[in-house]
Amino acid sequence: MRSESGCRRTRKSGSCFSLPATLWCGFLYLLCVEAPSGKMPTRLKAKSEGKLAKQICKVVLDHFEKQYSKELGDAWSTVREMLTSPSCWQYAVLLNRFSYSSDLEEDLHTKGYRTLFQGSYSPTPMKCYRSRTPGRMPAQRHQSGSLKKYYLLNAASLLPVLALEVKDGEKVLDLCAAPGGKSVALLQCALPGYLHCNEYDGLRLRWLRQTLESFIPQPLINVIKVSELDGREMGDAQPETFDKVLVDAPCSNDRSWLFSSDSQKAAWRISQRKNLPVLQVELL
Ligand SMILES: C[S@@+](CC[C@H](N)C(=O)[O-])C[C@H]1O[C@@H](n2cnc3c(N)ncnc32)[C@H](O)[C@@H]1O
Repeated sequence: MRSESGCRRTRKSGSCFSLPATLWCGFLYLLCVEAPSGKMPTRLKAKSEGKLAKQICKVVLDHFEKQYSKELGDAWSTVREMLTSPSCWQYAVLLNRFSYSSDLEEDLHTKGYRTLFQGSYSPTPMKCYRSRTPGRMPAQRHQSGSLKKYYLLNAASLLPVLALEVKDGEKVLDLCAAPGGKSVALLQCALPGYLHCNEYDGLRLRWLRQTLESFIPQPLINVIKVSELDGREMGDAQPETFDKVLVDAPCSNDRSWLFSSDSQKAAWRISQRKNLPVLQVELL
C-alpha cells in the first residue's frame, strides 16, 4: 500500500499511481490548461463570466495569497489566474460511449475542440475533447431514463484513471467516488467485471447514484455496487478483493471555497484544511 494520494496498490496484485497529497488537483489541472491571456480585475472577470459569475471571497483569497505565494513562488500567479476563472475549470468534454453521438463530435470540431490523450497515451475507447479557448459546453440536465452524452471536467482528473490502466473483467474499487466523474471515466476505458463505488457522505452518495444513472446503461449498472462506508475501514474489511483501487482522497477544494458566500464558514474550512493530510493518509 502507498501512503500518497492517487491510486493505491492492492494487497491482491494491483496497480498504483501516486501524487503528492495536498493541492494535487490544482497542479494537475495546470498541466492541462493554459492560463487565459490578458489580465482582468478579478471581480470584473467573474462578472463577465455570465452564469458563472460569483464573488470571490476575500478571506480565502488573502489566505491563498499568503500561503501559496510562499509555497509556489513565481508559479502562484498562474495558479491564481486559474483559480479565479470559473469558466476555465471544466473545460474538457468526456464523451459517453454508452450514448455516442457523431453530431456531438462534429459540433465539437466546429467549435474548435480537439481530442486529448490520443495514441499511445490512450489505448482505450475513452474520448475526451478540449477547447484551446476559455469557455465551456453547457452542462446537460439529468433526465430520468435518458443517458447524458458528455461529462464536463478538468482533463487532469482523467490522469489517475488512465494511470490505473483498468482492463476488461478486473475488479475495481473507487474508494471516494462522489460525484462519480472518475467512475464514469473508468467505464469509458474498460468494462470491469465488478466495480465498487464507495462514498462516505450521504448527500454526495445521492449525487453519485444520479451520475451513474445518467451515464451508465442499466445492464452495466448491475455490475456496479454502491456503498456508503468509511473508506478507511474498507481495506481491512475486504482484503484481497480488488485488482485495482482508485483513491481520489478528499482535498481542500480550494476553488469552491474561493467563491464561498459565507466568509465565516470559509474561514472555518481553511482552518480545517490542515487535518486533510491525516485523513488522506488513513484512506491510503
Ligand atoms: C475528491 S472527492 C472525489 C471525487 C470523485 N472521485 C470524482 O471524480 O467525481 C473526495 C470524496 O471523498 C469523500 N470522502 C471523505 N471522507 C471519506 C471517507 N472516510 N471514506 C470515503 N470517502 C470519503 C468526500 O465526501 C468526497 O466526495
